[in-house]
Amino acid sequence: MNRTLVICKPDAVERRLSGEIISRLERKGLKLVAAELRLLDRETAEAHYAEHEGKGFYEDLLAFITRSPVIALVVEGPEDTWQIVRSMMGATNPAHAVPGSIRGDLATDTGENLVHGSDSAEAAAREISIFFPHLV
Ligand code: RTP
Ligand code: MG
Repeated sequence: MNRTLVICKPDAVERRLSGEIISRLERKGLKLVAAELRLLDRETAEAHYAEHEGKGFYEDLLAFITRSPVIALVVEGPEDTWQIVRSMMGATNPAHAVPGSIRGDLATDTGENLVHGSDSAEAAAREISIFFPHLV
């Protein structure tokens, strides 16, 4: 899979960091193939984060991701582009995210960690179909 879904989460848009995040992806050499500023409804958020249903942080995660608009992106690059994006994002907990990564440089909070990236080729295909069904 050479495409992956990226989301600039509500905190990124609120903090005026979506341009910084998109700029990093472009400077890396990834190509934007879709982009939309969108306020997610609960149904879309549930579908996107279905793997986390029932976990302790699930309701907080849904409330967070639906509280203000996100920028949903599809980026394209070489094979396994999802891995490139995941390494650029840094660890889920910004305390463990290395400097130079998006979360390592710009975030301090596990809940509000600025960016989502698909975590496998299968997840990329599934998530792109949720946000941009016309691309599938
Ligand atoms: P994402 O799906 O948003 O790209 O993040 P991720 O793969 O790095 O982390 P994941 O395990 O999929 O968790 C999804 C998001 O849920 C929030 N979270 N909170 N309080 C907690 O323990 C906790 N764990 C996860 C984070 O916002 C995380 O990005
Ligand atoms: Mg995840």
